[in-house]
Amino acid sequence: MARSVLITGGAGFIGSAMVAQLSAQGYEVHVLDDLSFGRRELAAVPDDRFIHMDIRDRSAVLEALARLRPQWVLHLAALHFIPYCNAHPTEAAEVNIMGTVNVLDACEAANGVRHVFVASTAAVYPIKDDAIAETVGPGPMDIYGITKLATERIAGEFHHRTKIPVVVGRFFNAFGPNETNPHLIPEIQRQVLAGQRTLKLGNLDPKRDFIHTADMSQAVIALLEAGLGGFEVFNIGRGIEYSVREVVEAFARQLGEPLSIKVDPARVRNVERMHLLADVSKLRKATGWEPRWGLDEGVATLLQEVPLP
Ligand SMILES: NC(=O)c1ccc[n+]([C@@H]2O[C@H](COP(=O)([O-])OP(=O)(O)OC[C@H]3O[C@@H](n4cnc5c(N)ncnc54)[C@H](O)[C@@H]3O)[C@@H](O)[C@H]2O)c1
Repeated sequence: MARSVLITGGAGFIGSAMVAQLSAQGYEVHVLDDLSFGRRELAAVPDDRFIHMDIRDRSAVLEALARLRPQWVLHLAALHFIPYCNAHPTEAAEVNIMGTVNVLDACEAANGVRHVFVASTAAVYPIKDDAIAETVGPGPMDIYGITKLATERIAGEFHHRTKIPVVVGRFFNAFGPNETNPHLIPEIQRQVLAGQRTLKLGNLDPKRDFIHTADMSQAVIALLEAGLGGFEVFNIGRGIEYSVREVVEAFARQLGEPLSIKVDPARVRNVERMHLLADVSKLRKATGWEPRWGLDEGVATLLQEVPLP
């Protein structure tokens, strides 16, 4: 019988890529999402495998997990867009912290969950100018990173209490189709698809480790299939960083047309981090995983997407 998997946040940007990959690999995938940021059509599951639910609704989450009794739970549902979290700190704490408590308590009560994956973020790290390994101590700098560090700690406590194996994945910057939040790459994509050849952007020099959502999904699946026991934390990035200028150059190459940049003062943000680069040696060693998508290949597919509204 196919292994049943529940993905919270499966109608979102990264979750929908995981739904697609797990389904393609023969898993029976269920999605729980309140569609606050995700979209129903992104979660490629039939209606009887889609649970429209808010993870803050504790009794409903307990009841849903007890009914479903999935073997794996991938907990991705969270408020993730940093400007939104800064503007709504109470909501961010309720969803990212209390929502995680509810999902994990429901995993324990469901009696039969064999593995849990919890999505965290590189935002739990302090500023560092070279590649960051998992051994670097935490130093989140915003409400989002603080709530995700709490998510990790709650997941650790859950493991010690229940002995259910837990993998925490610290995602670096995802890119790929179906973005739900107005990050840098979808903004460049939107302007290019709208016909602009002089792009209006903010800070141009910060570098980020962009990893395609298909590679991210494969890394998570590889970690779960590795059957690790205990509580383990892994960076999930590509191990290469690109500046905003370099991302624009990749768009120009794939477009076959030059693109210029005009710095828009309204978009310039106080950026504390000039670098955010993953050391992925622990992930590689545990799974043999290798990324398949380069920046240019990913950008090429984004240029085929229907223009964003
Ligand atoms: N996108 C990135 O680059 C990135 C980087 C680091 C970490 N992450 C983490 O990865 C996970 C997925 O992020 P994403 O980029 O796909 O974002 P997303 O906003 O597209 O996905 C989050 C999903 O969770 C759902 N959700 C939000 N609040 C909920 C609630 N109260 N109850 C039920 N569902 C709820 C949303 O509707 C959405 O579908 C998050 O945990 C995020 O913190 C993402």
